[in-house]
Amino acid sequence: HEADTNRTDLMTITRFVLNEQSKYPESRGDFTILLSHIVLGCKFVCSAVSKAGLAKLIGLAGDTNVQGEEQKKLDVLSNEVFVKALISSGRTCLLVSEEIEDAIFVPSSHRGKYVVVFDPLDGSSNIDCGVSIGTIFGIYMVKDESEVTLEDALQPGNRMLAAGYCMYGSSCTFVLSTGNGVNGFTLDPSLGEFILTHPNIKIPTKGKIYSVNEGNAKNWDEPTTKYVEKCKFPQDGLPPKSLRYIGSMVADIHRTLLYGGIFMYPADKKSPHGKLRLLYEVFPMSFFMEQAGGQAFTGKQRALDLNPKKLHERSPIFLGSYDDIEQMIELYAASK
Ligand code: AHG
Ligand code: MN
Ligand code: MN
Ligand code: MN
Repeated sequence: HEADTNRTDLMTITRFVLNEQSKYPESRGDFTILLSHIVLGCKFVCSAVSKAGLAKLIGLAGDTNVQGEEQKKLDVLSNEVFVKALISSGRTCLLVSEEIEDAIFVPSSHRGKYVVVFDPLDGSSNIDCGVSIGTIFGIYMVKDESEVTLEDALQPGNRMLAAGYCMYGSSCTFVLSTGNGVNGFTLDPSLGEFILTHPNIKIPTKGKIYSVNEGNAKNWDEPTTKYVEKCKFPQDGLPPKSLRYIGSMVADIHRTLLYGGIFMYPADKKSPHGKLRLLYEVFPMSFFMEQAGGQAFTGKQRALDLNPKKLHERSPIFLGSYDDIEQMIELYAASK
């Protein structure tokens, strides 16, 4: 009868977060309000993505962002939706988006205590061919509400209060951690609500999949090269690992979280800091992985302990199952 009960007793994401927050007596519902604005942005982008071809949303917007990347129309639209939703929530004071060079200081009329860093649309290169893309965000608390500074956005990842992503895939999935495990919700399009479908996600301790852009192999460092060699030609009698690489971080991480394994975007000779951005890609995903029982390593240290200096700075990153990352850590230690 449990299945019947679940079908009629719906755990929406709002109900779930309200339950969680009620454990904190000082909570006044601000976080729940902020989250509901983020969720609204995700629903909007989800709907835009699914009709992209019809609504002329495919193709380039004609501009480049700070990273020197060509912006797609959906990058621009998603960015606008989230900026507006976050400001109008009245709960944010500082915003950092992949698509905007400078941080946005929220006008005092709408100011709240949260700092939000986000990648409005992740996996841009996959938009035009209908492959899964997503949105990534991280939430911090401002240090001093009466004086918001850029430093509030440059906090180390270990100070993150919550992180999440929404994947616009074969279904629309919202994965959230408020520092108390990881939970997954699936959009029921007929209700327009995210329903808890993946409670308390734990990543398998060891995986059978590795995920990396192998086209960069000629420029890799020695530990990365060795690791991938081991995946293909294991010496310990184990079967080789499978390779899966979508090229949308959200989708690659979602699979890694559910199936286990390792995702990497290492440093290479051409990009000594890797490609992925610390604030709104590396930190939120690292927060998740740890919350799900995995690890996040930069090649030098625990990713969440990095102290960012610049809004759009990059870092090499290895994310995934505890044991698989442990092996990577050992290879780096041996190469010193
Ligand atoms: P974005 O679309 O937000 O700019 O991010 C793209 C990122 C990430 O989604 C993915 O993991 C990575 O770029 C793929 O890079 P390569 O094409 O170099 O493999
Ligand atoms: Mn981009
Ligand atoms: Mn991205
Ligand atoms: Mn993006």
